[in-house]
Amino acid sequence: MTEIANQTQHDFWNGRAGEQWVAGHTRLDAMLRPIGLAAIAQAAPRGGEKILDVGCGGGETILQLAQHAAPDGRITGIDLSAPLLALARQRSAQAAVPVDLLQGDVQTHPLPDAQFDLLFSRFGVMFFADPVAAFRNLRRSLKPRGRLAFACWRRLDDNPWMKLPREVVLRHVPPPLSPEPGAPGMLAFADPDRVRGILDAAGFRDAAFKPLDSQVLLGDGAPLDQVVEGLAKEGPTAALIADLPRDRRAALFADLHSALAAHVTSAGVTLGAGSWIVSARAA
Ligand SMILES: C[S@@+](CC[C@H](N)C(=O)[O-])C[C@H]1O[C@@H](n2cnc3c(N)ncnc32)[C@H](O)[C@@H]1O
Repeated sequence: MTEIANQTQHDFWNGRAGEQWVAGHTRLDAMLRPIGLAAIAQAAPRGGEKILDVGCGGGETILQLAQHAAPDGRITGIDLSAPLLALARQRSAQAAVPVDLLQGDVQTHPLPDAQFDLLFSRFGVMFFADPVAAFRNLRRSLKPRGRLAFACWRRLDDNPWMKLPREVVLRHVPPPLSPEPGAPGMLAFADPDRVRGILDAAGFRDAAFKPLDSQVLLGDGAPLDQVVEGLAKEGPTAALIADLPRDRRAALFADLHSALAAHVTSAGVTLGAGSWIVSARAA
């Protein structure tokens, strides 16, 4: 792999987070799918295009983009995580067009110049220590008049699916240190003014932010007990719960159970999610 600027993220996504994402990819893909498809609709990929999937993870969006780029397009996926890229590699065998996978840090990886028609990401762009450097690198790889489209989360208050379990968990574990505003993480791109500034500085123009309000089905419709246990394994609460001794988990799980019971629908445990569908073009 080429130079890594984001070592903490590298270790995170190559460690337990990456393995748990692979193990839970069916549930996680189901949860993120509607938002990713909205971002793909915004990106409007066309037959024959060369597309870079940024932070492609396990590769579901590579397959979706490939359908649009058929018959003679090509998709490249880049990600830091070896376990997620292994999953993407397996799945890419079914893709409608050829797929290249790169293991690397988007911030520093020597991407080819003026190669892609479209840069796309489903929640893979919020983890850069130096987002301007990362987006400059991405911009360099885009053809003149090329497009950018990605999905990222809005504020915690717009995302009850994160906020509600987090509030319950924080009754049982000490609060983590508050990150600096904009620090790499799920909510780093919540503020559109900040993101517009990053994109402008990196050589993009016409940044547009469409708010998307949706419902996420936690655990892909699993029964409440399984959803509660799943919160200790994957998603934003997993790291908070990781250090809680086993003998104190029953009380936490009971609290999560009662808090989530009000959100059980015929489809499963359903909570609101707020994301941005961001688009821009090469300046
Ligand atoms: C929330 S996951 C989303 C994965 C995938 N896009 C999806 O929707 O399933 C974020 C992904 O970004 C990748 N990532 C984080 N920082 C990165 C960086 N600096 N360079 C490349 N990939 C990165 C992680 O390894 C992870 O696969």
